[in-house]
Amino acid sequence: MLTRLLLVLAALLFVATPHFTVAAAVDDVDWWENAALYQIYPRSFQDSNGDGVGDLQGITQRLAYLKEIGITATWLSPIFSSPMSDFGYDISNFTEVDSIFGTLDDFKALMVQAKSLGLKIILDFVPNHSSDECEWFQKSVNRQDGYDEFYVWHDGKVNAETGEREPPSNWVSVFGGSQWTWHETRQQYFLHQFQVKQPDLNFSNPMVREHMLDVLGFWLDLGVDGFRIDAVPHIYEHRNADGSYPDEPVSGWSSDPDSYDYHDHIYTKDQPDTVELMYEWRDYLLKYEAEHGGETRVLLAEAYSAVETLSAYFGNGTRLGTQLPMNFQLMYLSGYSTARDVVGNIDYWMNTMWANHQTANWVVGNHDTERVSTRMGAHKVDLLNVIVNSLPGASVTYYGEEIGMANVETECTEISCDNRDGERTPMQWAPTKNGDFSTAESTWLPLSTDFERYNVRTERGVARSSLQVFKGLQQLKSSSAFLAFKQEGGFSYEAVTEQVLQIIRTNLRNEEYRILVNMGNKIEKITGLSNKVYEYILVTAYSVHRPGETIDLSESIILMPYEAIVLRWLA
Ligand code: NOJ
Repeated sequence: MLTRLLLVLAALLFVATPHFTVAAAVDDVDWWENAALYQIYPRSFQDSNGDGVGDLQGITQRLAYLKEIGITATWLSPIFSSPMSDFGYDISNFTEVDSIFGTLDDFKALMVQAKSLGLKIILDFVPNHSSDECEWFQKSVNRQDGYDEFYVWHDGKVNAETGEREPPSNWVSVFGGSQWTWHETRQQYFLHQFQVKQPDLNFSNPMVREHMLDVLGFWLDLGVDGFRIDAVPHIYEHRNADGSYPDEPVSGWSSDPDSYDYHDHIYTKDQPDTVELMYEWRDYLLKYEAEHGGETRVLLAEAYSAVETLSAYFGNGTRLGTQLPMNFQLMYLSGYSTARDVVGNIDYWMNTMWANHQTANWVVGNHDTERVSTRMGAHKVDLLNVIVNSLPGASVTYYGEEIGMANVETECTEISCDNRDGERTPMQWAPTKNGDFSTAESTWLPLSTDFERYNVRTERGVARSSLQVFKGLQQLKSSSAFLAFKQEGGFSYEAVTEQVLQIIRTNLRNEEYRILVNMGNKIEKITGLSNKVYEYILVTAYSVHRPGETIDLSESIILMPYEAIVLRWLA
């Protein structure tokens, strides 16, 4: 009762204390604000034609599964024509489907199926660079009709001592080595913040920006609900007035001059023009929505940037930008992270993004990062799923995290030799051949050796499996108290001990949920949380309780190591 009174009082007084927020806003919650988002890596979700690589028809066949587990929208890593040097992040034609994934008709069929299921589809938009096999690059190499300045070209510098030509600046690419590569045909250097095969487009050229708007328009016309924008911080670079490029200072974080960490990227990341570009793209979507009706189209931004920069990408009060600048804070947790650490990572976002814009999103993993099971331990998978789905805002789940997939140790093959292969292995659907991912003799990356244990079919039949916990969480996430974070309710989060995180979700209809997560390997006895009686609503595998049991919090509560529970109080 006391908590309830405090919530109401705080709402009336517009008071916000650290870790505790009550919003008095009356706006409706738009679909993306509380969405359960799910990332599909198309090569690894479902193979429909037996070639060992996932494809669009495969995704279409599996869309019903996303509905089953409570997903709002799925974003697909790139499906566009590509030489696959960076598995689709090197695009040779931005408005074509790569044949490995199928055809444009397959994509249209996918959209029809998604709409009929009420699922939203978000595509990957990769504006920073194209493939060097893109027609635009070929035209630029040959200085053809208007494409001369389509990419970032420079003559380089002549070393005064040796008389030899050198790259225009000391910039190092994200994957290591110089960002500048000499092009024999054009006799100039071109810039690439990523691979040599990924030349950077020149966004200072209005024609490039127009081409990119056309790309957005093309896919919007096919009915997509938004875009995840790749590599946002890298889109612009600083160029001096005389056309030269300034060297970046040494950061002190690495002793290897060829490593990306060697420099502080003050001239190649998060340049002011990038913020303007986010507003330009959002304006384009807003105009599209106004002309075509329907629901909000969203922009997710992949930006490993300071929260103040993400806040600028979101908007500035007069201009709107990307609705979901992705929040990677919880991806930085390790197996040693305590509940207090978790609170620190939540605070980093909330103190700026929530405070300024009342928006939040939580990413658990992606195709560039080790899976939770590997990063933090198999026993922490459910804990992370509980946390990201209990906090206010959108959750972003990487395929397979809902069943506790782990990284796989892979070896280099002719198809792939990428240090990120381990988190990109085929989805584990069933304890049958290739996990029911493919009928091929071999798959592009190997299945995990544990797929017979961690797979959708098996986990459907096991009470308290990761999959069951995930489904239960999605039901809660779409229920009133979890939706009411802006309109009428409140939430709070805190570390009640070093290892126990508590999240409270409540609305003004006498509903209150308490989520307790024991991050530690010891039994925790906690007193003084509340003076009310609660019901266990959701329990994870480490719990000794059953849903429906009650607990009087005016006494004490015991949490097992790695136990996570959701309790409900009803007046
Ligand atoms: C970010 C993507 O997530 C990553 O997979 C890719 O290699 C780079 N951008 C380059 O596009």
